[in-house]
Amino acid sequence: MSKAAIILAAGAGTRMKSALPKVLHKVAGLSMLGHAIRALRGAGIARIVVVTSAAGEAVRAYAASEGCETAIQQEQLGTGHAAAAAKEALGDFDGTLVIASGDVPLITPAVIAQVLAAQEKTGLALAAFQAADPGAYGRVLTGPDGLLDRIVEFKDASDAEREVRLCNAGLYAAEARKFFAWAARLNNRNAQGEYYLTDIPALAKAEGVACAIALTEEAALTGVNSRAELAAAEALMQVRLRRRFLDAGVGMTAPETVYFSYDTEIGADARIEPFVVFGPGVTVAEGAVIRAFSHVEGAAIAAGAVIGPYARLRPGAEIGEDAHIGNFVEVKNARIGPGAKANHLTYLGDATVGPKANIGAGTITCNYDGFTKAHTQIGAGAFIGSDTSLVAPVKVGDGAITAAGSVITSDVEADALAIARGQQTQKRGWAAAFRAARKTEKK
Ligand code: UD1
Ligand code: MG
Repeated sequence: MSKAAIILAAGAGTRMKSALPKVLHKVAGLSMLGHAIRALRGAGIARIVVVTSAAGEAVRAYAASEGCETAIQQEQLGTGHAAAAAKEALGDFDGTLVIASGDVPLITPAVIAQVLAAQEKTGLALAAFQAADPGAYGRVLTGPDGLLDRIVEFKDASDAEREVRLCNAGLYAAEARKFFAWAARLNNRNAQGEYYLTDIPALAKAEGVACAIALTEEAALTGVNSRAELAAAEALMQVRLRRRFLDAGVGMTAPETVYFSYDTEIGADARIEPFVVFGPGVTVAEGAVIRAFSHVEGAAIAAGAVIGPYARLRPGAEIGEDAHIGNFVEVKNARIGPGAKANHLTYLGDATVGPKANIGAGTITCNYDGFTKAHTQIGAGAFIGSDTSLVAPVKVGDGAITAAGSVITSDVEADALAIARGQQTQKRGWAAAFRAARKTEKK
């Protein structure tokens, strides 16, 4: 049976109190909508229709950039109304439909597979979990047969119904044709005056189609409706990522202080010291060490490299094997050759550093003139003296040395010494005379 999915992403997200659409808020460096798309793709669903509001231009642009189709829900009249808005886009589709929310960032391919497997039994299924704190989730009410009777939304629920801890996760699977027929029959006679997707199981039941329940773990389907819930989802995601890396052989003494991105890749026997933050797009090869308090984003770190403590790697940083990037060193769009060292207080931007070059403390590549970026090339085995300013575009040849404190504005030949600083003069006894004069003045 062919499969397609709808992601509901048209809600106003008012509880977020944000100008950014709710589903574009990020968890572990990826938008919540991005997480839903990845999980669906991971479950083998290629065709995805994202339902947005008319004003949701940013959401549509993001969905399209991820290869999804989009549909517009003109007015936000509820989740059932939103799902129905995808009908036209899926007019030609006759298969199994997964309906997911764009505000459930911890969703995994495994829970989607669980709902699909449950759907095969009866024709309709939803995911539910026993919540530790059921909060405002819709409650799943089961009949004496253990099958789903109906879902009651929190705002419509009686006190007794609110006691139920089995919660609707907002993830469904159904035969597409039947689903759209049910969706067309929803009404909005409820506490919120909305067309609830959650009324579909009762409609199906009346037609003799039971709704199977896929019992899932709560952590995979935690919904995000507020900033506090976004922070809670982030915490859960970090727990999951830390666990994944520990299981893969990554060493961490204080994993609870390390923050990963959804796409971080780390080889076995790499070591991540406390308080390291990974932005998106980082790969760390086996045996590399990221020392404490480093911030790494868009960077590739080769085997045996040592980064930090207190280093910052920005997009385009490529750190070669066994290279060292030390404290208060920032690297951006720069390739650092194998065995090269930049250990202290340095900025390397738009640069190539040859193998085994040594970059002294306080070296700055002056890469930007306010308009364009220019490149600095440093040869193999070159020695850049402390406090050298390299005014790009500029090249320092293999094995060359720049004297400490130099401002290098033109290319340096291989194996040459470049000195570009004021000449030192010395005034013998001047300091002592100065002090003596000041002392008499003070009296
Ligand atoms: C919904 C469920 C609830 C479930 C919870 C799980 C309904 C009526 N309630 O509640 O049973 O426990 O999810 O997280 O379905 N949306 C639209 N258009 C609309 C309204 C919503 O596209 O008119 C989208 C939102 O952008 C969101 C999703 O649908 O991605 C869910 O809407 P939301 O308002 O978050 O529903 P919940 O109150 O969380
Ligand atoms: Mg929600």
